[in-house]
Amino acid sequence: MTKVSPSVLACDLSRLLDEVKSIEKAGADMVHLDVMDGMFVTNITFGLPVIASLRKNTEMFFDVHLMIDKPERYISRFIDAGADLVTFHYEACDDPSAALDIIRTRGKKAGISVKPGTPVDVVYPLLDKCDLVLIMTVEPGYGGQAFIPEMLDKIKELKAEINRLDLNVDIQVDGGINEYTGKLSREAGANNLVAGSYVFKAPDRKGAIDSLR
Ligand code: DX5
Ligand code: ZN
Repeated sequence: MTKVSPSVLACDLSRLLDEVKSIEKAGADMVHLDVMDGMFVTNITFGLPVIASLRKNTEMFFDVHLMIDKPERYISRFIDAGADLVTFHYEACDDPSAALDIIRTRGKKAGISVKPGTPVDVVYPLLDKCDLVLIMTVEPGYGGQAFIPEMLDKIKELKAEINRLDLNVDIQVDGGINEYTGKLSREAGANNLVAGSYVFKAPDRKGAIDSLR
């Protein structure tokens, strides 16, 4: 079953808790929280205190996407703040294997992500330590960009490798996901779809979430 993780980057952030409750009611499997540091990406969003404060008010599964340099410095603190799944960028991390170990040792789901220009095979040696691989389908940093179709081949390659190794690793896609690109991603092998604009700007959020499955 495909999971849907709406990204709050596209919501009304002044009403963050209400927006999270709205997608929970609409049937989202988890909520995608994009943390950006102005270094790994040019944008800056929110961080530990916002997530910790949200955690006190909802039971939703927190899918935390760290777009920060040297994420290993902060992983434990994001788990303290309430992350259930922590995904960091391969490109940003000096020792991705150790970072994945930190997450798993804390009993949380561990994810690793690659930007569009990074070949997916860099994560192959790490797959047995991952619960999820996030294939970015836009350059990270901003919502509302167009899906890069060349990423479909990356999804297919990764899916084939996961099958070859007989592992249980989810494939998440993030960036420009809508009903159409979501279907292409599912057909390529993705089973976890992040969608910001498509869900939060929809008049019928439940309909938008359902259409992604
Ligand atoms: C972009 C973020 C995404 C973003 C997706 O760097 O990682 O999660 O919110 O937004 P949409 O779905 O609007 O492309
Ligand atoms: Zn994201």
